[in-house]
Amino acid sequence: MKVDVVLGLQWGDEGKGKIVDVLAKNYPVICRFQGGPNAGHSLNFEGKKFVLHSVPAGVFRKNTINIVGNGVVLDPIIFREECKGIEALGVPVTKRVIISKKAHLILPTHKIIDAASEASKGKTKIGSTLKGIGPTYMDKTGRNGLRVGDILAKDFKDRFNALKEKHKIFLKQFDFQYNTEEHEKEWMDAVNYLKKFQIVDSEYELNKYLKTKNALAEGAQGTLLDVDFGAYPFVTSSSTICAGACTGLGLSPLKIGKVYGIFKAYCTRVGAGPFPTELLDKTGEELRQRGCEFGATTGRPRRTGWLDIPALKYAIMLNGVTSLIMMKADVMDTFDKIKVAVAYKVDGQKTDRVPYDTYAKIEPVYKEFKGWKKDLSKCKKDSDFPAAYKQYISFIEKELQVPISVISVGPDRSQTIVRKKQKASKR
Ligand code: GDP
Ligand code: IMO
Ligand code: MG
Repeated sequence: MKVDVVLGLQWGDEGKGKIVDVLAKNYPVICRFQGGPNAGHSLNFEGKKFVLHSVPAGVFRKNTINIVGNGVVLDPIIFREECKGIEALGVPVTKRVIISKKAHLILPTHKIIDAASEASKGKTKIGSTLKGIGPTYMDKTGRNGLRVGDILAKDFKDRFNALKEKHKIFLKQFDFQYNTEEHEKEWMDAVNYLKKFQIVDSEYELNKYLKTKNALAEGAQGTLLDVDFGAYPFVTSSSTICAGACTGLGLSPLKIGKVYGIFKAYCTRVGAGPFPTELLDKTGEELRQRGCEFGATTGRPRRTGWLDIPALKYAIMLNGVTSLIMMKADVMDTFDKIKVAVAYKVDGQKTDRVPYDTYAKIEPVYKEFKGWKKDLSKCKKDSDFPAAYKQYISFIEKELQVPISVISVGPDRSQTIVRKKQKASKR
């Protein structure tokens, strides 16, 4: 059996949470493979709204096993709060979620380092969510980190203190006010809460499940925030691309099945960094207001802009996307005109490649479409779509050479159209 992968093709917040929740009814095993509580995945069903940060979005489906994989970084305090919220809805969260021993722990001092480091950057701030993601992955690759499995060791407190002391020395370089003890007790209590869960060698568990079950891997962030392929340094600190599912779960590449690439029918970005099609005008504000484009984790207003085909082509290439899922076109229901960037001009030269130079001045080359001016949220099937929207869909499919197999027309689980005729493209 295989692991199908759902991942974001833009700068995050494409609607991965919604789609994983929808697809999860067909998958007994759901896994997160990277990122941490910088993610905010919104789910809407039966009149309820829930935002998940570290728990896989299959948790609300009966009989699912939800794996927090080794590639994830976990903040026990945020995780406990999230799980209590899920439990309050009557979901047996400690039975449905299992955690990799090898997932790294976010310490209170990682968050302080994140804040101190961002504050020291002045104008070159990345716009981090300040959840301690970068410093925790630094300790992972620097071979200093603490892992979830370590909480079961007798000398865990000593190991914690040793890392905290290293962090105090590191923090001396910053002119920054902090109290390293402030959240320590709360954190230790939350670590104890983690012990209610099965803490496992999740690579063995997942590969065992794959003998009889299919699984779904849920990406966090988006391809354009990938540590290697995003516009460095305006990226997150993990591999957000499909390959990250292999390293973040202990999975052979041969076990990867379908790759669902999710994108919004326009673009958004939170935090700093290049955004070629950004709209700083009234249309941009309309996208933000109509699309409720405010961060699910930090509440920050999201930057907004037109769809960017060169960036999508890049993301499809990096991930081996077999089918596309388009979200939120309903946000543009009232628009007279809709633009799509089909190429870039960099230094006067037309190109469809994303440039290496993060600071390159990119001028998008646009194609303009007539708006469909109809309420898409009421559509139940392909044939309900207005002609102008059908044209928009066909154009995107032709440009990207990958079929759009699912179209979302609203935040609710039920507002999802699975298109019958679409065949997945071969890798
Ligand atoms: P994620 O991080 O990729 O899971 O996405 P977020 O949850 O951060 O952001 C997506 C937002 O769009 C959430 O508020 C969703 O409820 C909402 N949403 C998802 N799909 C649709 C859609 O098709 N139409 C509209 N209008 N909203 C959607
Ligand atoms: P989901 O999973 C959108 C952005 C931050 C910042 C950069 C680095 O909900 O799509 P970090 O906290 O990782 O050090 O921040 O990445 N970022 C996200 N933007 N959606 C996310 O997750 C994000 N996670 C991080 O805004 O620009
Ligand atoms: Mg989000």
